[in-house]
Amino acid sequence: MTVLYVLICGSPAAQQVGRLVTAAQEIGWTVCVITTPDGRKFVDVPALIEQTGYAVRSTFKNPGEPDLLPPADAMIVAPATVNTICKWAAGIADTLVLGLLVEGFGKGLPIVAVPWTNSAMAAFPAFVEALDRLRRWGVTILWGEGVIPQFAPGQGEGLAAAMPWEAALIEVRKHLDEE
Ligand SMILES: Cc1cc2nc3c(=O)[nH]c(=O)nc-3n(C[C@H](O)[C@H](O)[C@H](O)COP(=O)(O)O)c2cc1C
Repeated sequence: MTVLYVLICGSPAAQQVGRLVTAAQEIGWTVCVITTPDGRKFVDVPALIEQTGYAVRSTFKNPGEPDLLPPADAMIVAPATVNTICKWAAGIADTLVLGLLVEGFGKGLPIVAVPWTNSAMAAFPAFVEALDRLRRWGVTILWGEGVIPQFAPGQGEGLAAAMPWEAALIEVRKHLDEE
């Protein structure tokens, strides 16, 4: 059984994550969706529980509680906010999503990140450097013109259909095929 963790951050580009769940299930994978606390606002949680058969977790479990999800074989973080990308590259693990990313990387899991933000936030040097660092460390990043829409602040609504969910799945499959 291949288990894919889909990690969602706080952006409207998360809206159509069900497309990725469907595509991964069609190739026989088990899918668990985990969101940041802000990401939870942008997805239909009951629909994802129904579609995946697993709880949609957004916070760390309490001490002593059992794990609700099977361990991951691979992860896709999409949409990956500026906030989460910068914190991940700095080793900060103060959300469940970040904890999974930091730990997942350390375990050597294949991780594909799909950053999504407006052109002003994307120009912030810490974000540019964080992407460079993550790339250097072996994270696959889907980003740039022709891959992710470039949009001005306030112009991001209505672009969710352009999130390359299927391309992210293809990238993560390449990694697993190589193993
Ligand atoms: C309506 C709305 C849309 C947003 N869209 C984005 C976005 O596309 N990319 C981004 O980096 N941040 C976006 N943000 C800001 C993030 O949600 C915010 O930085 C948040 O702290 C991210 O937390 P997370 O990384 O834990 O999900 C948006 C905020 C709101 C309220």
